[in-house]
Amino acid sequence: MGEETSVELEVARETWVTRMGFVFAVWGSMTGLGNVWNWPFKVSVLGGGPFVLIYLIMLLLVGIPVVLTEFVLGSTFRRGFPGALKRIHPLGEFLGWFCLVNTAILTAFYTVLIGYAAVYAGYAITGLPLDGVMGPSTFTDQPGFFVNMLMSPIVLVGLIVVWLVVFIIDYFGTRGIERSVMILFPLMWIIIIFMAFWGLAQPNAYQGLDFYLNPDVEQFLNPNMWSTAVSLSFFKLSAGMGALTAYASYLPRRGELTNSAVTTSLLDTTFAFTAGMAVFTIAATAGFLGGGGVGFAFVAWPGGMVIPGGNILGFVFFLMMVFLGVTSAISLVEAIVTAVMDKFGWPRSKAVIVITLILFLGGVPFTLWMELPDPMGAGDVVWGLYLLDIFDYYVENFGLVLVTLFMMIIMAWVWGGAKILDAANEAGDFKLPSWYKWVVKVISPVGIIIALAFIIINGFYAVGSIMEFTAPLIWIAICIVFAAILWRMKGVD
Ligand code: PFF
Repeated sequence: MGEETSVELEVARETWVTRMGFVFAVWGSMTGLGNVWNWPFKVSVLGGGPFVLIYLIMLLLVGIPVVLTEFVLGSTFRRGFPGALKRIHPLGEFLGWFCLVNTAILTAFYTVLIGYAAVYAGYAITGLPLDGVMGPSTFTDQPGFFVNMLMSPIVLVGLIVVWLVVFIIDYFGTRGIERSVMILFPLMWIIIIFMAFWGLAQPNAYQGLDFYLNPDVEQFLNPNMWSTAVSLSFFKLSAGMGALTAYASYLPRRGELTNSAVTTSLLDTTFAFTAGMAVFTIAATAGFLGGGGVGFAFVAWPGGMVIPGGNILGFVFFLMMVFLGVTSAISLVEAIVTAVMDKFGWPRSKAVIVITLILFLGGVPFTLWMELPDPMGAGDVVWGLYLLDIFDYYVENFGLVLVTLFMMIIMAWVWGGAKILDAANEAGDFKLPSWYKWVVKVISPVGIIIALAFIIINGFYAVGSIMEFTAPLIWIAICIVFAAILWRMKGVD
């Protein structure tokens, strides 16, 4: 690549308008749907309070170093994930595209989940029933409403609405992202704090907190708890998806990285912790504890909303979920858009139109409302949610962790742990000591390897479930084939 092209790209690259713009955008990305349907639920089943402690330890040892490394990658090379890694090693570009195919799959179904939330918000505020196989059901008639929704094209309508919003924000680049996040992020906080206080003031609040945080000391010896803390922290911190690299690539030269990595990560955890208090205290009041993941947020929780003001509370809650989701989805889209702009030299408008269209179409299978026989013999299933479950498992557990591991190896070993440190210290609000390079070189990668080992072992033991042979093969084949094609395509960068 000629010097000239490189200089042109440097000059043309967008930047954040303000330093806080970057920080808010990262906050918005980290604080997503996972704070509501993933984090609280995992805390409650994986040992309560002690899991929070373990999560914090893993956050410090593994999560934050990874976030910082991604920031350094983006801000040093001022490219998206593939373009930046390519400058360290030619194979890095392949890893970059592998990551972004995984990101694309996540985006496709993540936006469907935001679509669910949008549908719920709409039905909660209007109080209208949704008709279907389960008979007319309002949003509190659970699981009737959920089943009717899954088996109706309404999810597709929700998905279209979500994509329109994401498209408009991303079309305006860093300005669009910065403006929207600076409005939505404080709103999400106001809503969650209000909900947590409201929940704590209810008579059964204690029961909810007990369910959420009650220590289960035996779990300390359970290696799953430690490995889940790692994979969950990556998902929560938006690491290993190219999103943080993309956002950091818009920083002006010598942007602050270290303080930003620490504060964003900790604030995300604080949000998740607060969200756990809000959902479990309210769920306990409504007599609906238990269940997890998508089921908890979309079945148990709304099912408990047959309380005074339940419609309003439900509306506010699901509106917050839409905000949480949208501010994360724009970072996922941006990870891909920026990489495509770098590689093919497309203008933003073209990249955003093409990528949003592809990702929207990729999401349609996750909205499929018909019931078909499960190829693995588990009876009839609604295809959309069925596919979503499968891909969610691989994208979140394997994809993210694998990509992060290789990124850390390339950055800390091929490029250099000391260079990461120098880049962070160049404009850092505080300086990292020189021993910190061993955290990025050894402690963090070893933590990831151990977590990955347990994730793989668990995958093998879970025979008879979705983790059988075909699903992982399909997932990995999609990632490798598309990554190889994109890697070999001729570009301008
Ligand atoms: N951090 C988001 C959440 O907790 O829901 C999920 C996510 C968003 C992951 C953006 C990765 C990403 F790039």
